[in-house]
Amino acid sequence: MTDIARRQHDLRETLTAAKVVPVLTIERVSDAVPLARALVAGGVRTLEITLRTAVAIEAAKAVIAEVPDAVVGIGTVLSAADFEQAQKLGARFTVSPGATPALLEAAAESHLPLLPGVATASEVMQAREHGFDTLKFFPAEQAGGRAMLRAWGGPFPDLRFCPTGGITEANAAEWFGEPSVLAIGGSWICPAASVRAGDWAGITAMCARAMKSLSQG
Ligand code: 3PG
Repeated sequence: MTDIARRQHDLRETLTAAKVVPVLTIERVSDAVPLARALVAGGVRTLEITLRTAVAIEAAKAVIAEVPDAVVGIGTVLSAADFEQAQKLGARFTVSPGATPALLEAAAESHLPLLPGVATASEVMQAREHGFDTLKFFPAEQAGGRAMLRAWGGPFPDLRFCPTGGITEANAAEWFGEPSVLAIGGSWICPAASVRAGDWAGITAMCARAMKSLSQG
């Protein structure tokens, strides 16, 4: 197995164990640790902290240092420089919305797994050419939904996906039930209003409900 194949294999295991990966956009650094603890308490341990806010790096540092049960990935990685940043932080994996050659090359040469985003067959082929067989389907609902993913099963039966974008409590089980889906991601599992209100118990309850329903499905 090549090094990149091994890392993609590890990523498959991480996603399979996770079932749900919350996409976290943290506005206040003081929310980071209680939010991560609330998610972990609900059985959701694998978290994507996006580089979308001024406090994202500080928030990720705090969670990595103070919530050892969380498996922290860095999301919204847009460039090789962002990828380096994630490596320095000690992230366990990275996630990007798209798959540019520069980012795929940087990730292929490093030791940190990348879940690259794809929305078209050509992007899938480009990621595959760089050795990536575990991909984020983004934005999943908007780019063709479950029918699109099923259509890719013809030419790309070896690929596995984590769809994100438009997944909600109502359609989570359907997405999770797709044969090529290892885990589902999104922001629905940690609503911004609940975070703003510090409703950590509500977030834990929602996570527990989601994990239970996906385990039964
Ligand atoms: C992502 O980056 O994966 C998306 O922003 C998540 O999409 P959602 O907010 O529709 O879940």
